[in-house]
Amino acid sequence: MREFKTILVTGGAGFIGSNFIRHVFRKSGYKGKAVNLDKLTYAGNLLSLTDIEKEYGGTRYFFEHVDICDKAGVMKTLKDTGADCIVHFAAESHVDRSITGPGEFIQTNLIGTFNLLEAAREFWKDRKDVLFHHISTDEVYGSLGDIGYFFEDTAYDPRSPYSASKAGSDHLVMAYHHTYGLPVTLSNCSNNYGPYHFPEKLIPLMILNCFEGKPLPVYGDGMNVRDWLYVEDHASAIWKIITDGKIGDKYNVGGENERPNLEVVNLICEIAAGENGKPKDEYKSLITYVKDRPGHDRRYAINCDKLKKELGWKQSVTFEDGLRQTVRWYLNNPEWIESVRSGEYRKWIEKNYAARD
Ligand SMILES: NC(=O)c1ccc[n+]([C@@H]2O[C@H](COP(=O)([O-])OP(=O)(O)OC[C@H]3O[C@@H](n4cnc5c(N)ncnc54)[C@H](O)[C@@H]3O)[C@@H](O)[C@H]2O)c1
Repeated sequence: MREFKTILVTGGAGFIGSNFIRHVFRKSGYKGKAVNLDKLTYAGNLLSLTDIEKEYGGTRYFFEHVDICDKAGVMKTLKDTGADCIVHFAAESHVDRSITGPGEFIQTNLIGTFNLLEAAREFWKDRKDVLFHHISTDEVYGSLGDIGYFFEDTAYDPRSPYSASKAGSDHLVMAYHHTYGLPVTLSNCSNNYGPYHFPEKLIPLMILNCFEGKPLPVYGDGMNVRDWLYVEDHASAIWKIITDGKIGDKYNVGGENERPNLEVVNLICEIAAGENGKPKDEYKSLITYVKDRPGHDRRYAINCDKLKKELGWKQSVTFEDGLRQTVRWYLNNPEWIESVRSGEYRKWIEKNYAARD
């Protein structure tokens, strides 16, 4: 098992990054330090980590306000902290935004990843006791028909500017391993859901709209299929990979919960109604079909047997249980919701009101 003294988490103020940092401190048994390097875009929110800041801030947890597109800033953080592991989440992550404004995606996801790799190569030189772990998506594999799964060796076939930028960053990471011997691991995961998820994405948007009696916008016929991974299970998978994964390998991470979007929305309606003491079908009349997203991939389904067999990882919750915990979290955290809906972010969401995933 690999051990680290200081883990540099990029994008730690985002949805998955903040859940990962919480997992590292609360569940993994890790004794070292974690540095959260984040630009704090509309998607980054330090309120997602107030409990960690309070308990570990200044001793084992540190925040660095840095843009990964600023190579000198990245290099300085690496030098100052002496990090021996980089877990790279920072990205522009929303497919719809990549369609209306692809430029930011190319900058952050490609140039930003390149800067990090260069900084790691320069700072670590030929060290072998270090690791660069890159977080990516199953969307790099393209779209599936009614059958079949994505495996680690499935050929890349990205369809949106977002998935193309992530595919490019995956290739860069692997190229730095093969060309320069940089110790890397890579993971491609399916759609995450859970606490601290920004309400532009399908599940939190639907939960909040149920609570507020607003329309539940569903793209197309609602039959696009996604696999849903509980974010805490994703965090435990990343921990397994960075500590025990084979250097130079990639691992798929999935929830093995394949559902059409419409089924997900119906289930949210039922759980939200139950949690609010309403009749089971109370919120279903809010479902509204909206024009499909351009190039909307029909089905993603991921095979994660490699991670399960080789590293002994498994999911901890069923989709229904994970969704119930998520609905309860949104009910119990109105301050966090208000904070992410304010300012820039709020303006954007009001202008672009449709189903997201
Ligand atoms: N959310 C999912 O379902 C999902 C699925 C597959 C893969 N992923 C990947 O996981 C990673 C994290 O996703 P997420 O959903 O937590 O994203 P997110 O949008 O919630 O968070 C992204 C974080 O990165 C930060 N960031 C953005 N640009 C930056 C820059 N230039 N410099 C420094 N920080 C910057 C933001 O401030 C934010 O805190 C991404 O790489 C994404 O591609 C996400």
